[in-house]
Amino acid sequence: MTKHTVTVTDNLTGKEVELDVLSPVVGPKAIDVRRLHKELGYFTYDPGYLATASCSSSITYLDGGEGTLMYRGYPIEQLAEESSFLEVCYLLLNGELPNKAEMQGFEDIITHHTMLHDQMQYFFRGFRRDAHPMAIMVGVVGALSAFYHDDLDIHDPAQRMRSAHRLIAKMPTIAAWSYRYHMGLPFMHPRNDMSYAEDFLHLMFATPCEDYEVDPLMAKALDVIFILHADHEQNASTSTVRLAGSSEANPFAAIAAGIASLWGPAHGGANEAVVNMLTEISESGESLQHWVDKAKNKDDNFRLMGFGHRVYKNYDPRAKIIRELANEILDRLPPDNPHQKLFDIARELEKVALEDDYFKQRNLYPNVDFYSGVIFLSMGIPVTMFTVMFALARTVGWISQWNEMMGDEENRIGRPRQLYTGAEKRDYISLEDR
Ligand code: SDX
Repeated sequence: MTKHTVTVTDNLTGKEVELDVLSPVVGPKAIDVRRLHKELGYFTYDPGYLATASCSSSITYLDGGEGTLMYRGYPIEQLAEESSFLEVCYLLLNGELPNKAEMQGFEDIITHHTMLHDQMQYFFRGFRRDAHPMAIMVGVVGALSAFYHDDLDIHDPAQRMRSAHRLIAKMPTIAAWSYRYHMGLPFMHPRNDMSYAEDFLHLMFATPCEDYEVDPLMAKALDVIFILHADHEQNASTSTVRLAGSSEANPFAAIAAGIASLWGPAHGGANEAVVNMLTEISESGESLQHWVDKAKNKDDNFRLMGFGHRVYKNYDPRAKIIRELANEILDRLPPDNPHQKLFDIARELEKVALEDDYFKQRNLYPNVDFYSGVIFLSMGIPVTMFTVMFALARTVGWISQWNEMMGDEENRIGRPRQLYTGAEKRDYISLEDR
């Protein structure tokens, strides 16, 4: 079969270089530009990496035009409907769905790693009570490496997998404790007789004074939301984890870097920003069109949070599932529940925006963050915890991508170059002469 190549011709020098075109299993082909600098002396230029494949990966595939998303080849809609978050964790980490014995074994490992070292409680107590839970999570996850000195050989696949298990297992405890500390409540300890989502709700809302009944619908909804947030190809925080990990930093430090990146309102912080935006809209008394026009106004830095996406130029498939889930949950609550109004505003806002040419021309649709906050509110999870929820779920994606990179012999330290626009060479002038 003819090798697929492209030829780059420099019209100043007439020099040419033939570059290989790499074919994926599905999706856009990629030009291998690694010889470009050596043979033509040029870098490629792509701020924000809009058209750059930073790595090869077999974990997640998404098609922005179609609005499709697959984990290890399985469509997200089927996984959300049929699977469980822990089964999806196994799939993302290992590449295949587990059989019964593998699933039982994995569940046992995760269940028996949910506790934190007793000393870790003192990390929480060093924060102010009003510290943002994401600040606590960044600090505590980074500190985890201090407890596993003898198990951080990143070149040993078994030690890498143990770190992955520890992170997946401990994130709900760390997330819930950051909330409990903020509320001045005693830390609850994990329960081995509960599922992953049930145990998280128990860690968040139980008290030592009485038994806690987990609401099965809320636990199921949470499990689906965790599945939908588990991985998403080379997004900003995953790329951060890969870049941090490429220097051979330990996995806890790399994941802490990913949590920091996710925190931004342009990324995972958007779910918190959406509910703040919906509340502002609800209290403003202004029409929805007023807010949509504000989002279109270039002189106004207001944006419709939860709208738009770097890759999806169609409806984010996760947003569709979350919207239906929000419908189901709110239908169970009394019509005058405090969250119904925010959800109704969100539905209306979506309608107004999707009929507006500005949004249509730019293919701006609701993304994963647009409706998730309404569900978290109905579970009693406060707004400041929303991005923590995202980080909790995305940890498996981050650590699976990190593990894939560390096992890839092509892997080397990430070190992008630049287009220098600074001063030309000049001599130092002493202070007296300036
Ligand atoms: C996540 O990458 C991932 O996969 C991320 C994620 C994951 O699972 O990991 O999916 C999770 O981060 C979802 C995105 C959450 N962020 C938000 O909801 C914040 C609001 N959205 C925007 O800030 C924006 O849409 C981004 C950051 C999501 C995407 O930014 P891009 O790709 O850089 O797009 P852009 O800013 O160049 O926008 C293109 C145009 C611009 O207008 P023009 O310059 O062409 O005139 O669309 C406009 C933008 O001004 N635009 C918006 C808008 N988003 C883009 N205008 C109003 N409201 C918006 N929300």
